[in-house]
Order: sequence, then structure tokens, then C-alpha cells
Amino acid sequence: MRQKVIFGNWKMNGTQVEVKTFLKKVDKAIKKSDVIAGLGLPFTALASGIKHAKNVMIAAENVYFEKNGAFTGEVSIEMLQEIGVKYVIIGHSERREMFNETDKNVNLKAKALLANQMLPIICCGETLETKEAGKTVTFVNAQIKAAYKDINKEDALNTIIAYEPIWAIGTGKTATAKDAQEVCKAIRDNLAKIYDKKTADKMIIQYGGSVKPNNIKELMSQKDIDGALVGGASLVADDFIALINYKK
Ligand code: G3P
Repeated sequence: MRQKVIFGNWKMNGTQVEVKTFLKKVDKAIKKSDVIAGLGLPFTALASGIKHAKNVMIAAENVYFEKNGAFTGEVSIEMLQEIGVKYVIIGHSERREMFNETDKNVNLKAKALLANQMLPIICCGETLETKEAGKTVTFVNAQIKAAYKDINKEDALNTIIAYEPIWAIGTGKTATAKDAQEVCKAIRDNLAKIYDKKTADKMIIQYGGSVKPNNIKELMSQKDIDGALVGGASLVADDFIALINYKK
């Protein structure tokens, strides 16, 4: 039975004080959960998250793969390590679409994070056009193959995959549990080809895209869905608590 892992992704939201207030309420309420709870935060709020989180893992929402240097506006792995961040969301569709994040960059970031004992949450997901063309599995598995290039199976076990269909992000149009399961199973089958079945069966695959307290239970009951990456619903403390305590 794989560990259940549910992360929020605040995207470009959240002041340091909002993070402190949010965690003060959430940390207590999820104390007895067997789910690993996490929260992706903007760079400016990460230190506040690390300082105030006890039962919530704090993730950055991006990182650059080069060591420190002439990369204006970027943040390095060393800088995240200095404040105690261990998880980093990489390859989110918003970064791919709006900031030209490439499969190559996602792979470089994943390898750099793993080389520094950090844990990448690697995002993948198709557009509505790709879905309607029936090419979802082909597209997503190409993203996964590119993301895991030159990553050995030991390191692969220290990653999380987040399948987030772009047409479900922020739209309220959640993928059906059946459709999400089908794609997550196809990802796992692909991982079994890249590595082996034993490794693939151990890897954590999250679903993201309009996950809410009223639909998370069915999604989490799916065989190949081990968690969720949640945007909007993670911004509200009571909703985040309901997401983590979805079994109750
Ligand atoms: O990374 C999670 C995010 O893309 C999903 O957003 O608002 O549809 O839960 P949302």
C-alpha cells in the first residue's frame, strides 16, 4: 500500500503572515492524519512556512538547476536548502505555458534536486485539444519519459508525479475518477517500462485539477492515484483540512 501524499499549491498567493495564520489552524487539525500533507508556497513565504509548519511539508513551486550565478530572477537549490525546503514542484503546466518551461529543463531540475537529496514533484498533463484528439496518454508519457531521462530507479523512488490535466486546472471541471485513474495507470505502466514493475508500483502518483473536499474521496479510492496536488481548495484552511482528512 503506497503512502498517501496530498499537497496544496498556493501558486502566486500568500503573504508570510497568511501562511503563519493558515498553518496555526491546519497543523493542529491534521496532526493524527496518516496522509503526508504538504504545501507549495511562493518563494517569499517559504521561510515563514518552514518556521510555522509542524505537520505540513513545505514545497517551493520552482527552482533553477544551475548553481548560483548570472541567472537574474532565479532561485537556486542551495538557497532553498538554506531555509530548509526539501520538496520542489517542477514542470507545472502554468510554468510550461506561461514561462516556457521545457521537458529538458524539467529533467535538468529533477536531476539537480535529486543530486542534492531534495524531492521533486514532477508535473505533467495535457491540453483539452490533446485530450479531444485522444492523445492524452501518448502526450503525458512523453513528458514522463523526458522528465526521467538519465534518472536511475533509486532516485526515481524519491520523486512524486503529479498528473494535472490542463483543462481541469482552475476550471472546476475535475477529471472523472475513472478517467484520472486510467491516465495514472498508464503513467505507472510507462514507469514499469522505463524502470521495472517493482519500482513503478512503489512510485507516488498524484492527481491535480479542481480537486475539492467533495470529490477527493472518490479520486483517492482509485488504485493508481496516491495523492492530490490542489490549487484553489488549498487556499482555505477548512478546505485544506477536509482534503487531508478525506478518510473521515
Ligand atoms: O498544482 C495544482 C493546481 O494546478 C490545481 O489547481 O485550482 O484546479 O486545484 P486547482
